[in-house]
Amino acid sequence: MSDSQNLSRREFVKTAGSAAAAVPLLSLNPSLGQTARRRYAMVGTGDRGSGMWGRALAERYADVLEFVGLCDINPKRVVAAKEMMGVNCPAFTNFDEMCEKTKPELLMVTTVDAFHSQYIIKALDRGIDVMTEKPMVIDEKQCQAVLDAEKRNNRKIIVTFNYRYAPKHQKIKEVLMSGEIGRVLSVDFSWYLDVYHGADYFRRWHRLKSKGGSLWVHKATHHFDLINWWLGADPVEVSANAGLNVYGKNGAFRSTNCRPCTHKSNCSFYYDITKNPTRMKLYAGCEDADGYHRDGCVFKEDIDIYDTMNALVKYSNGATMSYSLNAAMPIEGYRLAFNGEKGRLDIRDYERQPWQVEEETVIHLIKNFGKREAITLPKIAGGHGGGDDRLRDLIFRKIQVPDYMRLPDSRAGAMSCLTGIAARTSVEQKRPVKIAEMIRL
Ligand SMILES: NC(=O)c1ccc[n+]([C@@H]2O[C@H](COP(=O)([O-])OP(=O)(O)OC[C@H]3O[C@@H](n4cnc5c(N)ncnc54)[C@H](O)[C@@H]3O)[C@@H](O)[C@H]2O)c1
Repeated sequence: MSDSQNLSRREFVKTAGSAAAAVPLLSLNPSLGQTARRRYAMVGTGDRGSGMWGRALAERYADVLEFVGLCDINPKRVVAAKEMMGVNCPAFTNFDEMCEKTKPELLMVTTVDAFHSQYIIKALDRGIDVMTEKPMVIDEKQCQAVLDAEKRNNRKIIVTFNYRYAPKHQKIKEVLMSGEIGRVLSVDFSWYLDVYHGADYFRRWHRLKSKGGSLWVHKATHHFDLINWWLGADPVEVSANAGLNVYGKNGAFRSTNCRPCTHKSNCSFYYDITKNPTRMKLYAGCEDADGYHRDGCVFKEDIDIYDTMNALVKYSNGATMSYSLNAAMPIEGYRLAFNGEKGRLDIRDYERQPWQVEEETVIHLIKNFGKREAITLPKIAGGHGGGDDRLRDLIFRKIQVPDYMRLPDSRAGAMSCLTGIAARTSVEQKRPVKIAEMIRL
């Protein structure tokens, strides 16, 4: 009896999959002059920042948050984003100047991944609480520096792992905790990105390991966090293989980006950004300031990340996982199974498919020597399977949730990133990589 439900409370909170103790991001400290609304600033005002953590917050949480500053290295994008968010705070291209002038109490970090750590650390050193988009960091040095800064300043980091808050993912957690399949022995997890969504990572900065840490980190951090949380366990060792088989140098032709490309008519990956007014304003209208093409060519020669990835991961509770991530598929979604001592929890998630699907997620509980039972799920609308809305409410509305749904902390951010960093290192160094060789917790 050693699945996550049966661990003692003390053992359970030690693992990455557990939640931070209540993180009082919105509790006020009058002795610090904190007023009724927390002073909120953002660095990185692209799509994610201006939407999920910008316009949506300004519209729905104005009673608890006051936007005091926005910062981005692109002077045009930060102004365009401010207009799109409908907020009335100053815009900056210098982070320190923003902090000096606007004195934020809470910072949202939504920059390119490689720069998360520098802003997280600067904010913590100024006594500012931090929310950061995933991945928290892209390498082990950044990881150590962020964890050290949090400890040194006694502040809090929340890593906004929205996937945990999709009701289907909560349901999986609850079935595992119920003990129905007993101790989890192994996990089969295959994530599929289709030729539209997958290709999008190869158009932009994500195509470079130095910017996004490769999809092992940028994308798989979501999946590794889910697994750590579902299992209530830490990753211990990773062995991986990967290749670049479709994008980058594999293309027969290439351009800088799609708009001026002479191969539009014969390229299956042609993306017409001119049909998206928001992206035209936020990216095409600002590209002369930094050369960032939102419709970049997926066949650029400099692409150094992988589109085909496989890993074997060992966990602290003895479970193992066979994981794969493929980024040029005709289907979008995942196959997942937990193989337990008493049975199997079997999940097929259908996001966009080239055929009509009746149900997005199909979950079956299959007992050894027993029957198959379908697990029904509530129908929830909203971004990332309903996870985005629930996460925002949890942060800003102090809704009551069971312990296992509390906000993910820096340890969860670290353990999920480190799984991907270990996988990347394993591919590069052709050896199994232990998490403990990369970090002091
Ligand atoms: N949780 C999710 O489901 C989810 C979804 C999308 C994106 N994200 C995360 O959100 C973040 C932003 O993603 P995005 O899609 O908006 O990317 P984006 O490229 O659209 O936006 C990134 C912004 O950061 C700015 N920037 C780059 N370097 C900077 C620096 N050194 N200092 C300040 N600003 C800098 C860019 O100019 C750009 O405006 C990423 O970390 C990404 O992983 C999370």
